[in-house]
Amino acid sequence: MEIALARNAEDAAAQVADVILARLKAKPDLVLGLATGSTPIGVYRRLRDAHARGEVSFARVRTFNLDEYLDLPADHPQSYRTFMREHLFQGLDLPPENVHFPPTEGRDLLRRCEEYEARIVECGGIDVQLLGIGRNGHIGFNEPTSSLASRTRVKTLTERTLEDNARFYGPGERPPVLAVTMGIGTILDAREVLLQAIGPKKAQAVRSMVEGPVSSFFPASALQLHRRVTAYLDPEAASLLTMIAYYRRTRAQDEELRRAGRL
Ligand code: PGA
Repeated sequence: MEIALARNAEDAAAQVADVILARLKAKPDLVLGLATGSTPIGVYRRLRDAHARGEVSFARVRTFNLDEYLDLPADHPQSYRTFMREHLFQGLDLPPENVHFPPTEGRDLLRRCEEYEARIVECGGIDVQLLGIGRNGHIGFNEPTSSLASRTRVKTLTERTLEDNARFYGPGERPPVLAVTMGIGTILDAREVLLQAIGPKKAQAVRSMVEGPVSSFFPASALQLHRRVTAYLDPEAASLLTMIAYYRRTRAQDEELRRAGRL
């Protein structure tokens, strides 16, 4: 796993956005895997700004979101479809038919989850998957004990995740306890993964992901099995890593080799 030590949250967002913009310029029909939560908001703002400046078009991009709550209506303020519309889609020229979310309403979910996976394959696979990380190590809603080979399916949310989400719901509202999420196997199939972690609450999770053992009890550790993952961390999220100097040196040396056209 490559570790990018950013100066702060803004710098991390700028670095992630720059990678996405570079990939998009190289491949205008890029297939993007998208995440929700507070972490990617700065990245999405930068993508909208780049589009507004006329630097890039999303007209041929296809998107697949990681997850969505079961039975939360699309127009609910807390649905991930609302989140994506507000933070990214409404500022882009992305055709609505190119946007995909896992199935969360109606019947026959298992079959429709398989269709979601098939649609990803039909589009040529995910080129760049954006990820955050939960304090319990979840990626998407792959909670602890998720199979490392899992595909898109219904997941029961843990108490920890429900606690983290409670702040978004008003008194008397019942937050959803189930979600549909891409599996860890689905995420590992992406060609490139960009994970962002920001703030002191993520420090322990980052340490386990980067330096801990691979375990379904800590789903983000499965990213150690992926060939091309970069974790963009602010100083607080990186604060418990034991090999910081090495990560800094590795990244600087890789960048030097890239600049010299040798990588
Ligand atoms: P956050 O959520 O970006 O709001 O911290 C990340 C996650 O739980 O995956």
